[in-house]
Amino acid sequence: MKFQEIKNNVFYCGLNDCDRRIFDELIPLEHGTSYNSYLVKGSEKTAIIDTMYPPKTSEYVKRLDENRIGKVDYIIANHGEQDHSGSIPRLLEKYPNAVVITNAKCAENIKEMLHVPAEKIRVIADKEEISLGDKTLRFILAPGVHWPDTMFTYIVEDNLLCTCDFLGAHYTFNDVFAPEDEVLYNSAKRYYAEIMMPFRTMCKKYTKMIKEEIKPEMILPSHGPVYKNPSFILDAYEDWSADECKNLVLLPYVSMYGSTEEMIDYLVKGLEAKGIHTMKFDIVDGDLGDLAMGLVDASTIVLGSSMVLAGPHPMAANIAYLAGVLRPKAKFATFVGSYGWGGNLFGKLGEMLAGLKLDVIEPVLVKGKPREEDFAKLDAMIEAIYEKNKSAAIV
Ligand code: FEO
Repeated sequence: MKFQEIKNNVFYCGLNDCDRRIFDELIPLEHGTSYNSYLVKGSEKTAIIDTMYPPKTSEYVKRLDENRIGKVDYIIANHGEQDHSGSIPRLLEKYPNAVVITNAKCAENIKEMLHVPAEKIRVIADKEEISLGDKTLRFILAPGVHWPDTMFTYIVEDNLLCTCDFLGAHYTFNDVFAPEDEVLYNSAKRYYAEIMMPFRTMCKKYTKMIKEEIKPEMILPSHGPVYKNPSFILDAYEDWSADECKNLVLLPYVSMYGSTEEMIDYLVKGLEAKGIHTMKFDIVDGDLGDLAMGLVDASTIVLGSSMVLAGPHPMAANIAYLAGVLRPKAKFATFVGSYGWGGNLFGKLGEMLAGLKLDVIEPVLVKGKPREEDFAKLDAMIEAIYEKNKSAAIV
């Protein structure tokens, strides 16, 4: 298949992975993913920006051959993770005169993880440029979105910005300029939730830099389609990474005999009646990507769990741990749960969320099925959530 031209001798040479159903063995992929690679043909030199996920290397090299791209002078490694750098060793065999251009941190990573020989790597500094003749590549170090080795490559004359994983989406396509619709928006949000949300502050910083300083004509990420209209994704990142939460309470729960779910349902009804949006999430049957997307916006997390062997249900513990590492911007948390013979239900869950420094609202624990006095406590919880949300920066 012929490479699609993005603009003026800049081509898409990546691949779709339509069959991939999960990424990082964690978050389900609704639309597969793509591993993006870009071919930049200057008047004197040719560069490939990012390479390929190792299991796709043969298919990738076959496509390079089919497109008769000729010599390659530079292989740009924007990031050392193997879904982008994994085919560098194979490309160096194929193009023995090529030099890998990358930053110092990524150089260390690809030397250690992929055994790329040091003599094949040229280390560049922030804002350094190389010339391809009529085109210039400028490298912009962007540590923290999402690895310490991440950088962007800016194709100066064409005003195209390759942003590596930043601003990407797990999404497959035939036309590299996919329609910017709700499906793509949600794919990008799910991707942000899992991969970028833990680095929200850095996301804010680089979104602003791209919007106000670089002002690219198009954004070329490492996963998902090229954004012909950068504000589609930049505006979304501005929203997702903002300090303000949405008027949303997220209620993940696991309920062995229905008591915990009864309390969750009571809370949902009461909160909705007070004009607060809710997202009830069944931990056993739910899609973790949906939960992660809820965490992008929620002001409050109410975690519901049955007691198992004197502690929280392991699936609730998994959610508390996941929320702890994804580092959402939520401000408040509380817990509800039910037990049979005793134990410490909320202590361990609280410890897992401690890093988020949430303001914890009084939890409600019941023995077996909730009684009238328990519902009165849930009413107090609803009131507390309502008051806290009023006082916080909620949009
Ligand atoms: Fe898509 Fe951090 O690799």
